[in-house]
Amino acid sequence: MNYTEPSDLPAPGSPDDPREFEREIDLDASQNASPHAATLEQIHASESVGALVRADRVVAGYFPGVNILNGCDLYAKDGELVGIIGPNGAGKSTLLKALFGLVRVNEGSVLLRDEDITNLRADQLVRRGVGFVPQNNNVFPSLTIEENLQMGAFQEPKKFTERFDKVADLFPTLGQRRKQRAGSLSGGERQMVAMGRALMMEPSVLLLDEPSAGLSPALQDEVFVRVKGINATGVTVIIVEQNARRCLQIVDRGYVLDQGRNAYTGTGRSLANDPKVIELYLGTLARA
Ligand SMILES: Nc1ncnc2c1ncn2[C@@H]1O[C@H](COP(=O)(O)OP(=O)(O)O)[C@@H](O)[C@H]1O
Ligand SMILES: [Mg+2]
Repeated sequence: MNYTEPSDLPAPGSPDDPREFEREIDLDASQNASPHAATLEQIHASESVGALVRADRVVAGYFPGVNILNGCDLYAKDGELVGIIGPNGAGKSTLLKALFGLVRVNEGSVLLRDEDITNLRADQLVRRGVGFVPQNNNVFPSLTIEENLQMGAFQEPKKFTERFDKVADLFPTLGQRRKQRAGSLSGGERQMVAMGRALMMEPSVLLLDEPSAGLSPALQDEVFVRVKGINATGVTVIIVEQNARRCLQIVDRGYVLDQGRNAYTGTGRSLANDPKVIELYLGTLARA
């Protein structure tokens, strides 16, 4: 039925009244609502003091006038392992890209140790200690492992040998197979090359976009163990994951992102046990 003419509208309160329908939707939304946006903002403001990296009220998108992120807050303290989960298309990758200068931040700010790094170029961010591993195409397949890691250290070539040895300590396979082409490696090994490449600049914060995607369960587990290992060396890690349950098991804190906004935040354990988070985000994601 078309309700464009006011005279077409059913009487207020009748079952056909679209206003009733809207009211129902609203009611539904409030029942399923994440903590009130104002509460999330307060949590962010009070907890994020002294953070190593922080995004405040970030509004960002790929095209002018079309924002994908609509005011996201996020912080990570020195040494923290922070996870970002949420449905497909929620804006998780976009948030990581906004932190790494790969998508235009139109409002809000990104700070690293209180320096405003909003919209700096990726190479400037790498120099400042931000490392980024994109989800796809994150290795040069025709180059060897060693050459891939050289690319990671291109800003400080003299440090190559020392850094390579450190990365090989963390990922022995990379050292053993240094002359092997990255294209001939398994998906799991390639993820290690990608992480190793980002570690060559000794970042203080590492941004990882779905490192376990496309891997077998056993290899996914290995990736999570490796990520824990990287974090244990003192590198702050912000990880986006589709494997939400597993992610919440390993992180100190997590964020649930939905439609470009913060929906929930808390410790990994509290999120994993929150009935609303389970109902809304872990059930379907776990099956996906
Ligand atoms: N390069 C791009 N150009 C234009 N729109 C994009 C681009 N990448 C992602 N988007 C859009 O941004 C929204 C969020 O995507 P994304 O951040 O990739 O979500 P997630 O990582 O949570 O699955 C989606 O609607 C997607 O279509
Ligand atoms: Mg993504």
